[in-house]
Amino acid sequence: MAQLWGGRFTKETDQLVYNFNASLSFDNKLYKQDITGSMAHAAMLAKQGIITEEEKGTILEGLKGILADIESGALAFSPEYEDIHSFVEANLISRCGDVGKKLHTGRSRNDQVALDMKMYVRDEIGEIDILLKELLESIYKVMDENVHTYMPGFTHLQKAQPVTLAHHFGAYFEMFKRDRSRMADAKKRLNLCPLGSGALAGTTYPLDREFTAEALGFDGPTLNSMDSVADRDYLIELLSGLSTIMMHLSRFCEEIILWNSNEYRFVEIDDGYSTGSSIMPQKKNPDIAELVRGKTGRVYGALMSILTTMKGIPLAYNKDMQEDKEFTFDAIDTVKGCIALFNGMIATMSFCRENMEKSAKNGFTNATDAADYLVNHGVPFRDAHGIVGRLVLACIEKNISLDEMSLSEYQEISPVFKEDIYEAISMKNCVEKRNTIGAPGEAAMKQVLALHKKYLEEN
Ligand code: ARG
Repeated sequence: MAQLWGGRFTKETDQLVYNFNASLSFDNKLYKQDITGSMAHAAMLAKQGIITEEEKGTILEGLKGILADIESGALAFSPEYEDIHSFVEANLISRCGDVGKKLHTGRSRNDQVALDMKMYVRDEIGEIDILLKELLESIYKVMDENVHTYMPGFTHLQKAQPVTLAHHFGAYFEMFKRDRSRMADAKKRLNLCPLGSGALAGTTYPLDREFTAEALGFDGPTLNSMDSVADRDYLIELLSGLSTIMMHLSRFCEEIILWNSNEYRFVEIDDGYSTGSSIMPQKKNPDIAELVRGKTGRVYGALMSILTTMKGIPLAYNKDMQEDKEFTFDAIDTVKGCIALFNGMIATMSFCRENMEKSAKNGFTNATDAADYLVNHGVPFRDAHGIVGRLVLACIEKNISLDEMSLSEYQEISPVFKEDIYEAISMKNCVEKRNTIGAPGEAAMKQVLALHKKYLEEN
C-alpha cells in the first residue's frame, strides 16, 4: 500500500478494506487523460507563479516519461497504488523527488477524476461516431443497390404493404443518424472543465481555470465547484445514448435472424459471420446477431446501475461514484465491438431478392392498392375495402395470390374491375406509386438517397 493520505492515521488500513476501496485495477484505463490533465495543471501552476518554470519543466518531463513507460510496457500498474491518480503522482515523486510533490497543489482527486472521466468519454464518443458513420456507409450502400428490391413491409409481423429493401434499411439509416446526433449532443453538454474545483469548494490559490479548460479542449470551466465534482449526468446521457444504439442494433439483429431463417430466406449471413452446431451438421447459426442482441442487456444494465448509484447521493463527492467506471467502460467497449461486428455482418451478407419479392406477392400486400383501384373508379373507400376483403377470402380458398385471379373471378365480386387491375396491383406499381417524402417509390427514395449522400459527405 502506497497511500497519498497516511498523515492523520495511526493504524494501517486493513488489507481487505484496501482492496475493496482500490480502483487501480479498472481506472488504469484513464492513465492518458490523468497525465494530460496533470500536464495542463502544472503548466497553469507555473503561469500563475505558484510553481517555477523550472519546476514545471521537471514535472512535465517526469509525466512524459511515465506516459512513455506505461505505453511501452516498462511501467506496470502495480496494485500497491490505490487508483490511477495515486499511481501517477507516486511515480512522479519517485522520478523527480520533492518537485513532484508540488503537482497536487490546488487540486483534489475529486476534480481530477471528474476531469479524467470527461476526457475519456469525450474521446470515446469520437470513436463511436466513426464506427457509426462506417455503419451508415454500409447501410447506404445496401440502400443504393436495392431501390427496386421489393419485399413485404410488416406491421404486427404480418405482411402489410410492399416496400423495398432500400426503404427498410433506410429506416435504420435514420436511427443511427439520430444516434450520432444524440452522442454529439451529449459531448457538447459535457464539454465544460471541472479542473480547479478542488475537493468541492474551489481553492485559495489563484488558479486560472479558463487556461486549463482551453488547454484541454473544453468550451470553458464549469461554474459550480460542488456540482463539478458531484456531476455524473454526462455518464447517464452517454449510457442512455449507448443503450439506444444497442436497442437499434438489437432490433436490426432480430430482423436479420428472422430473415436468415429457413422460413424467410431473405438473406444469407456470410460463412465468416456464422457458426455451426456441435451436433447438428446442417446448422449455420446467426450467433453474431444473437450476441449483439444479447449484449443489449448489459449496456442497459450499466445505465440502470449509474442511475441507481446516483439517486441518493448528497452533495458533493462521495465514494459511491467510483462505481461509475467499470460498467461505463464495459458499455463503451461492448457498443464499439457490437457496431464493428454488426457492420461486418451486414457488409458481407447476401440478399435473396427473389425470395423477398415472392414473399411480398404472396401476402396480399397489394390489397390496399386493389381497394385504391376501386376508389379511383368511383367506389367509396369503405365499400372498396369490403370488396377486396371478399377477393382476399376467395384467393385464400384457392390458395392463390391477387394477381393470379382471373378477370372473370374479379368481376364476379365487382364489375368495376377491368383488365388494367393487374397493372394496378403489380408489385412495381404498388411500390413505385408511393412517392410521398419518405415513401419507398423510386422518385422519393432517390431524393432521400441524395440527401443521405450529402449528409455522409458533410458529417
Ligand atoms: N477513485 C476515485 C473515484 O473513482 C477517485 C476520487 C477519490 N477521491 C476521494 N476523495 N476518495 O471516484
